[in-house]
Order: sequence, then C-alpha cells, then structure tokens
Amino acid sequence: MKEQLANIRADALAAFEEAKDALALDALRVKYLGKKGELTAVLKQMGKLSTEERPAMGQLANEVRAALEQAIARTAQRLEQAALEARLCSETVDVTIPGKSPIIGHKHPMYIALDEIKDIFVGMGFTVLDGPEVELAELNFDRLNAEEGHPSRDWSDTFYLDEDSRVMLRSQTSPMQVRAMDTMPLPIRIIAPGRVYRKDEVDATHSPMFHQVEGMVIDKGVTMADLKGTLNLMVENLYGKGTVTRFRPHHFPFTEPSCEMDVQCHKCGGAGCPTCKGEGWIELLGAGMIHPNVLRMANIDPEVYSGWAFGMGLERTAMRRFKIADLRLIFENDVRFLEQF
Ligand code: PHE
Repeated sequence: MKEQLANIRADALAAFEEAKDALALDALRVKYLGKKGELTAVLKQMGKLSTEERPAMGQLANEVRAALEQAIARTAQRLEQAALEARLCSETVDVTIPGKSPIIGHKHPMYIALDEIKDIFVGMGFTVLDGPEVELAELNFDRLNAEEGHPSRDWSDTFYLDEDSRVMLRSQTSPMQVRAMDTMPLPIRIIAPGRVYRKDEVDATHSPMFHQVEGMVIDKGVTMADLKGTLNLMVENLYGKGTVTRFRPHHFPFTEPSCEMDVQCHKCGGAGCPTCKGEGWIELLGAGMIHPNVLRMANIDPEVYSGWAFGMGLERTAMRRFKIADLRLIFENDVRFLEQF
C-alpha cells in the first residue's frame, strides 16, 4: 500500500506538470482525488489493514493528498499566468489607430448670454439670487403694488395652481425683489435670473415659458441716473462699445417713474429693417424707480432709501446677441442649431 501511494504521488505530480490548460488539470484532479479517483480507491482499502498499521498509513495517505492538492493549486496558478501572458502577446495595442473623440456638449447660447450678464453684474458687486418658480400671488402681485383686479392677475394670463388664485407659476422674476427686501440687509444689489410663465401661444417671439433676469439696487440716494448708467454699461459690455440705447416712458405698478429701454438695431443701425420691424430699435427690458408703496410694504422707509429695478427677457437678449431670428430655436434643442455657438 505504501508503494501504491508513492506511485500515485509520483504519477500525479508528473501528470500535473504536463497539464496544458485548466480543463485538463481539472480532469486530472478528478482522476486522482475524485470520489472514484485513484487515491480514494487506495483509502477504501484501509479497512483491511491491521490496527497497528492503520495510523501510519493514514498519515501517509493524508500527506499524499495534501501534496497533490498543493501541486494542483500551484499548477492552476502557473496555467493562469501562462494564459494571461499568451493573451497579452496576441492582443497587442496599435497605438497609431486614431482615437475615438468623446462628444462633449457645450453651453446653450442662452446660458452663454446669461453668464456674460452675471459676470458684468458680479463685477459691480451684485449678488446672484435664485428663487422659486412656484410663487405666491401675494409676492408676484400684492407686494408689487398690483392691486386686485389688475389685468395681469387675470386667469387668462396667469397659470394659477389653486382655485383661490393664491399660488401660481410666477409671471415675472419681480417677486425676487420682495424676497430680497424681506431677507437681505440694506443696501441691496442683486440680480435674479430664472424661468417665468405666461399663457402665451408659441410663435417666433412668444413662449408660455421663458427666462428673465431681474435686477435691483436699494440704497440711500439712488437715482434714475444710476439706473441708466448701470444699464448702459451692461449693454456696452454685452453688445459692444458705443451701442446706443433709448429710454421710453412706460407703466409698471411697482416702479415710478417707469420706462422701457430699447437698443438701436444691430442690423440697420437705426434706419429700420425686417429685424427691428422697421423701427430702428429693439425693446430689451422694463425698468424704473421702485415705487414707495413697494418699499413701505417691505418696511423700508422711502424717505430714507430709494432704489431702482429692471427686468429683461433673456431669450431676447441671446437672440440679439447671437442674431437668432426665431425664439423656438432656443427651446427645440436641435443639435445642428446649438452646435453653431
Ligand atoms: N417685471 C416686468 C415685466 O415682466 C419688468 C420690470 C422689472 C419692470 C422691474 C420694472 C422693474 O415686464
């Protein structure tokens, strides 16, 4: 029996050396160590041995088993290593093949315009605020001096979210004026960009959702001259030095006096052309001196403090900046269009 075990050991170790791959090695494992394997067959004869012989033979059998198991593990590792090396040799990398360049998007033209606007105002010490698109009618209207019955409060113009017309999708970024007055210490210099919603049909110049940038300054001794100076500076930064503006009287409930600012048409230089619909001017924003009632409702004394505010359409600014003719292009996200900027 001792001899049998020695033979098995020698045969098996030699066979393992010869194994070509993992499959062959596994077959050998079954052949020697499996339930019907050669070593198992020898062990089954242990019962025939005398009680004196059995312990020594048992120990030898265990040694042989351990030796075979170790050899199998070693061989498996060797085969794995060899397989890896073979693969590395066969799968060479051709570093001269041109790489696949990943498609990286870029900023949307409207956000390019917005970032320019932010830069201009941050450079003048303004803080950029973000606010909710679902807004209280109280902040969108009442606190902005637009009393009950004001035409913009009508259900045909505004998306209300409840029966009592108290919660709505903001129709302008102007409620951010109120939110700033309620939360920030004076003096205040803010801009607040964001989405606004109105019940408009989609066409080349209208969309039920669009973007505005609100701007506001409140301090002691602030005048209309500051408003005009700041807006002219913004326009020159956006559209180039020497861009001509004009301020027309207008009406907003929350500013007094109120105005609209136009920019001279970039296409015709003011002569009148299709881009400016023959006007020579393009309307850019509404603005004015903050109404004393609005300051009072925010517990700011209009005898001590004054301020100005403006609200500009962001799509319109981007359209003028990049000479885009149709508002719908801004929202359709057609890559062929977006790639041009
Ligand atoms: N909120 C006004 C609008 O949507 C614009 C505006 C803002 C006017 C601030 C004056 C002051 O038309």
